[in-house]
Amino acid sequence: KERIAEAKSFTTNSLDEVEAFRIKYLGKKGLFNEFFAEFKNIPNEQKKEFGQTINKLKAVVQERIDALKTDLETVEEKGVYGDLTRPGDIVSLGSRHPISIVKNQIIDIFARIGFNVSEGPEIEDDWHNFTALNLPEYHPARDMQDTFFIQTDPDILLRTHTSSVQVRYMEANKPPIRTISPGRVFRNEAISARSHCFFHQVEGLYIDKDVSFADLKQTLQHFTTEMFGKSKIRLRPSYFPFTEPSAEVDVYWGLETETDYRMTKGTGWLEIMGCGMVDPNVLTNCGIDPKEYSGFAFGMGIDRIALLLHQISDIRLLSENDLRFLEQFKSAL
Ligand code: PHE
Repeated sequence: KERIAEAKSFTTNSLDEVEAFRIKYLGKKGLFNEFFAEFKNIPNEQKKEFGQTINKLKAVVQERIDALKTDLETVEEKGVYGDLTRPGDIVSLGSRHPISIVKNQIIDIFARIGFNVSEGPEIEDDWHNFTALNLPEYHPARDMQDTFFIQTDPDILLRTHTSSVQVRYMEANKPPIRTISPGRVFRNEAISARSHCFFHQVEGLYIDKDVSFADLKQTLQHFTTEMFGKSKIRLRPSYFPFTEPSAEVDVYWGLETETDYRMTKGTGWLEIMGCGMVDPNVLTNCGIDPKEYSGFAFGMGIDRIALLLHQISDIRLLSENDLRFLEQFKSAL
């Protein structure tokens, strides 16, 4: 049986060695004849198995010889290995997930204006997700984001936004800071075509001396132009505990204005992100002196933007792993 395994794995590039292989196993004084001579000494009840095994050895060796000869003769005849006219094997290529496609586009746009990428844990503590962001215990705005807590410990939760990564980044780095934080976030919301209990965000943070609201506005205009083509945005006053002043950013999604092919459906003003000037309390909490530095922050949902850009009608498609859906993104970036 050992010899069978040995013969099966034999390989060579030389016809001479194939011949030597044949002689070793099937020649007059070869192993097969040697085993065959043993046959008469084998006890009767084992004869059957022994006979089958040595016949198998003979067949395996003969097969190897034939296969190697065919291969080597082809090489000799054609000067190449194998038959080049044979059709190739089909390699089925994967495709990027639409979330990744859109996330990478956003990262690229901000990377070109000097933002790096930072990441943090999806399971967070209260400090990084809430308290450091000017949301102390019992602050009513905590209810703005329905939170999943881990078992019974109210201090450990699934992050509700990637602002938590910005806190970590400020704690670990000195200004100037220019970073974006992409990642998955979780909120205890009913699942429907429009919302899910988890989704993806990219949040951005810029801290330096003399950073103003005008810088924020211009950065966002630059982003939407790169992302959506020639686009109109508007900022509506809003409220976030970690920014002051705060605003909501709408982009005009319609055909009546100078938009390009990426904005296909005329749906009017659409909210795409929240933003504002980082609240001085947040800077202090993270070890940055608000008298010396100021900055802006913004945060957007990747899923929502992916739905818009790729005309996807149901957010649930993004997490169902249906190949009929995913394969449609083969030609995308
Ligand atoms: N963290 C906010 C959210 O998840 C978004 C935001 C980020 C708003 C930064 C303002 C500044 O809704």
